[in-house]
Amino acid sequence: MPLPPKWSIGYHQCRWSYESEEVVRTLAQEFRTRRIPCDVIHLDIDYMRGFRVFTWSPTRFSNPKKLISDLKENGFKTVTIIDPGVKYEPEANYHVFDEGMKNDYFVRQADGRLFHGYVWPDKSVFPDFLRADVQKWWSDLHKSLTDIGIAGIWNDMNEPAINDRPFGDGGVHIWFPLDAPQGGENPATHAEVHNLYGLNMAKASAEGLIKHRANERSFVLTRSGFAGVQRYSSVWMGDNQSQWEHLEISLPMLCNMGLSGVAFVGCDIGGFAGNATAELFARWMQIGMLYPLMRAHSAMSTARHEPWVFGQRVEDICREYINLRYQLLPFFYTLFWEAATTGAAILRPLVYEYPDDPKTYTLYDQVLLGSNLMAAPIYRPGVEYRAVYLPDGTWYDWWTGEKLEGATHILAHAPLERMPLYARAGAVIPMQPVTQYVDEHPLNELQLRIFPGSSEYILYEDDGNSFEYQKDIYSTTKISVCTEGERVIVNVAQRQGEWTPEKRQTIVEVVGFGKQSFEDDGNSHRLEFSDGSL
Ligand code: GLC
Repeated sequence: MPLPPKWSIGYHQCRWSYESEEVVRTLAQEFRTRRIPCDVIHLDIDYMRGFRVFTWSPTRFSNPKKLISDLKENGFKTVTIIDPGVKYEPEANYHVFDEGMKNDYFVRQADGRLFHGYVWPDKSVFPDFLRADVQKWWSDLHKSLTDIGIAGIWNDMNEPAINDRPFGDGGVHIWFPLDAPQGGENPATHAEVHNLYGLNMAKASAEGLIKHRANERSFVLTRSGFAGVQRYSSVWMGDNQSQWEHLEISLPMLCNMGLSGVAFVGCDIGGFAGNATAELFARWMQIGMLYPLMRAHSAMSTARHEPWVFGQRVEDICREYINLRYQLLPFFYTLFWEAATTGAAILRPLVYEYPDDPKTYTLYDQVLLGSNLMAAPIYRPGVEYRAVYLPDGTWYDWWTGEKLEGATHILAHAPLERMPLYARAGAVIPMQPVTQYVDEHPLNELQLRIFPGSSEYILYEDDGNSFEYQKDIYSTTKISVCTEGERVIVNVAQRQGEWTPEKRQTIVEVVGFGKQSFEDDGNSHRLEFSDGSL
């Protein structure tokens, strides 16, 4: 995978739908007034004129350019949904349909007739994304969105999914014809290349954004894909429900994706279909903080699912865990770099790190972020305690700093405010102060939260936004921790590489030992901590 823009690792807010400019503006303001960090607002299908892709509703979004630029001013990036189904609309001056017809870009049936199915715009036709010329055409259509400031694209229904007849009018299900030729000359059948449909649509989106938003990294999210989709897009797991079982299953689903090479993944926080209870939502936000893609979403005609709709207690919990996500951004970003350079998962099952420990083989309700931070979330109502397996070694409770010896189970206390979280001895967790959005201001304070032990860690940094890192404009800093008798020694090595951060303080905390700080001049620093030193 390429490195995503850093802002896409922040919190995303989505709903089907924030259906008008006013609704979107109020939403954005709520985040800022309530001091709940948020970087991205997604616009679902209702921003369009009658669900026609690459159009805007003239009444509900009369001036999208102004809206998007005002949001940008306020620190929000806007992502729009684009589905593959193009409204079948001859003689209506709908440019996407007209151009596709003129150039014969849409999938035809084996007998040569144009294939149509029913999706949101009713009768629709489907681009043949296997063809390079269709991919190029589709990617260039994104210019109309990037020109007005759209920073990311959300691809949906690209299995491709089609419905029975017009929506609301039941009928015999129309399947995508398995013998439909795809790919231009020497075509394959749809049956042969079905799984590439979503992949190639995501590829066309990514390429469109790279071409038409050339100086900045963009964000792509897709529902469908295939092996290799991580090169073009992040992936979410589709339409889950506001049920405890769906919260629970999200962890093994995302770990499986990570093990399959698709590291930038998430599930709809709060559940898509149905209404979350306050308790479910709070627990989901805690687990959502662990998802590489942290996006809340909810379906049409469900109750609202924003962090503040469940009362003060849940709002405070959401704020605390979204804040934690933002504090952990340097840590997450380094994990993304690791994923981008080695293919490693970001969210990992324990077996990934402890392959010789059979107790981890079926353990699916504890996860690791990288190799050193382990969460044991609560995913059942009314539960305040849970068993936690600590693999061999020494661990620390993230919240209390308590030292725990591993190769055992412990009983963790987890009232609603608390998601059990543990750090492995020697863990170096780079953190930063909370900001309301990722690029609010340059990092003026880097915090290294270190748990006594021995280890080496590499912190990765770059500008978070441009493609300069591909020209080696980035930096790495090696941080080594070791214990000598009663003392913990931390060595922050000289910064390597071509990227220089803004002036900042580095604050090193060795948990249980205290804090020391220095002005980060890029040189090496050796710090000694003895018990009780502050
Ligand atoms: C599909 C998507 C969902 C989206 C809806 C409307 O169900 O999976 O995320 O909100 O379509 O576009």
